[in-house]
Amino acid sequence: MLYEESMSGGQAHTTFEKLKICFLLTYLFMTETDREYISLPVDEYVSHHRGRYESLHRKSIEDADEFWNEHASILEWYSKWDRVLDDTKAPFFRWFINGKLNVSYNALDRHVKSHRRNKAAFIWVAESGAEKIVTYHGLLKRVNAFAKALLDAGLKKGDRIAIYLPMIIEAPVVMLAAARIGVAFTLVFSGFGSNSLAERISDCGAKVVVTADGANRGGKLIELKKIVDDAVEQATTVEEVIVVKNTGNKVEMVEGRDYWYHEVTKDQNVFVEPEKMDSNDPLYILYTSGTTGKPKGVVHGNGGYSVWISNTLKWAFNPQEDDRWWCAADIGWVTGHSYIVFAPLLLGLTSIMYEGAINYPEPDRMWEIIEKYGVNLLYTSPTAIRMLMRYGDAYPGKHDLSSLRVLGTVGEPINPAAWHWYFRTIGKSKCPIVDTYWQTETGGFIISPAVDLGIGSLKPGSATFPMPGIDPVILDEEGKEVPVGQKGFIAVRKPWPGLMLGLNNDPERYKAVYFSKYPGKYFNGDYAMKDSDGYYWLLGRSDEVMKVSGHRIGTIEIEDALVSFKEIAEAAVFSKPDVVKGEAIVAFVITRQGFSPGKEMTEKLKKGIRETMGPILVPDEIHYVGSVPKTRSGKIMRRVLKAVYTGQVPGDISTLENEASVDEIKEAIESLRAQTKR
Ligand code: WT7
Repeated sequence: MLYEESMSGGQAHTTFEKLKICFLLTYLFMTETDREYISLPVDEYVSHHRGRYESLHRKSIEDADEFWNEHASILEWYSKWDRVLDDTKAPFFRWFINGKLNVSYNALDRHVKSHRRNKAAFIWVAESGAEKIVTYHGLLKRVNAFAKALLDAGLKKGDRIAIYLPMIIEAPVVMLAAARIGVAFTLVFSGFGSNSLAERISDCGAKVVVTADGANRGGKLIELKKIVDDAVEQATTVEEVIVVKNTGNKVEMVEGRDYWYHEVTKDQNVFVEPEKMDSNDPLYILYTSGTTGKPKGVVHGNGGYSVWISNTLKWAFNPQEDDRWWCAADIGWVTGHSYIVFAPLLLGLTSIMYEGAINYPEPDRMWEIIEKYGVNLLYTSPTAIRMLMRYGDAYPGKHDLSSLRVLGTVGEPINPAAWHWYFRTIGKSKCPIVDTYWQTETGGFIISPAVDLGIGSLKPGSATFPMPGIDPVILDEEGKEVPVGQKGFIAVRKPWPGLMLGLNNDPERYKAVYFSKYPGKYFNGDYAMKDSDGYYWLLGRSDEVMKVSGHRIGTIEIEDALVSFKEIAEAAVFSKPDVVKGEAIVAFVITRQGFSPGKEMTEKLKKGIRETMGPILVPDEIHYVGSVPKTRSGKIMRRVLKAVYTGQVPGDISTLENEASVDEIKEAIESLRAQTKR
């Protein structure tokens, strides 16, 4: 059974009807969501042989010091490290000890001194069709100008700033300017609302927020400055707000606090000496969701992180000097940090940066851009592929896509049908699909085909093999390696340079979340399986984290948001399979006495969450119930809810057992059934 088929459920109108249908269907078809295990030879399309990958991977594990000594020279260092890895304070691993470098120097100055001086660093394209080419030389000028503005604002090495910008050139400029003077930044996705922004600003202690008047998305204006004003009221660390004039909408400027970007960067002919940063000084903090309400501030450093992302981009995609690389993610996620901004610039590549929706104004927007700019390497998400696939083949058919050489995906498992469409319809069966598996915490790809090293055969839906330096293992609950072909938890046995330095202000949580389940090994909550050919298959999250359109969202974040409404007493959130988004958010809520559930309340809840948390956190469905199943210790049984709701129960309930006893699960199912009968 194909993944798609298992994901498409009937559109019943009420919860009760839906639950009834689910039970019925479950009895009729006792199926499971199998994957299609076919291997597709693409050897003939890539020039290398797998042998190179194998020897490099072996060396990286057997002699990590020598391997990384060699591979860290991909960057220019002010002074070399005197030790490759310090693991004496494990799990706080430190790389390239006492090595000094500057990321903005490596991303810009180094190229400006070379033949790349006038090469395009970014070809920026707006939703409106407007475009701007920024060369390495031009980018360095802008970065210096803004670095000077930050110094003028009184910032110094060790301080922190927050960036709340859409996909405009100023975003990478501000990131690099901060890196130049040793200020760590946190860039917050511009789709997050004011509470989410305030929480992040406060946790990292940002003194300055850089934002824009507004952003264009799908033909709509998003008033970013207003959201910042709300957030800054809650976050007390902010002294200054710098505003980029982007959309030209009218904004309120607070005297003595708010400044225009174009005014503070008036002097474009300045040079700011790059700070000599320690390899293990923080470069940025990026917040991501976990299993508690508070987002985790993942801290990445200067040295190890930069070495990791530049090598992995090279290994996985094999970019050539004159290539055009398009990572179609948003800069607000780690994909954008690592593979729109830092890695491509460190490698001196030309990137497309697109501000807007990939299906706006027409569903062929992406294909049009590829044709117009001759994109060679495309990197996008399974969600985007599924969405574009649904518009039909005529849209890509209108465009010459022959410039494409490698196609990448990221963010969630890619189902075989989407893989095949991407491979055949977009890549014309000649571009390997590079399914990159990684996380915010891992800095860059950890399992991915490596075009540069010889990928061998691809299997649609498998991220194939570990990157050099990565030593994965699949374990059971007790930490025993599971046999080949069996599902377990993925763990990594050795540290690698891209692994985060830690969690901001929370060393204990870092240890507890990632290194306590399997002491000495990195654990991240993903299910995986290794097949008999050694291919890795990522099988989704094992925890209370959802992947909605590839966005990582904790169920508890939405539950917390729901119960913060005076109308709501309790909430249980889980996800259901969705044909396009991968997962869609479903909420079961219990109203407080005196409030009546209904359409009006649903609208109010959705609107509130949109404003405070951001549109990506708005539940697709909100259902009103009298109770939600809980374990005796009071934990909401989200997985039971999900299984019942999506029709997987009754059947095998063994996968539900980690959080509750079989009796409790049976009770929960009975109680849900009773609610459907009412
Ligand atoms: C989680 C990390 C990776 C950068 C963007 C998302 C899932 C990511 C894949 C893939 C299967 C994947 C995992 C992971 N995931 N890529 N190729 N195949 N699953 O970063 O927001 O930190 O999310 O995304 O569940 O743990 P993130």
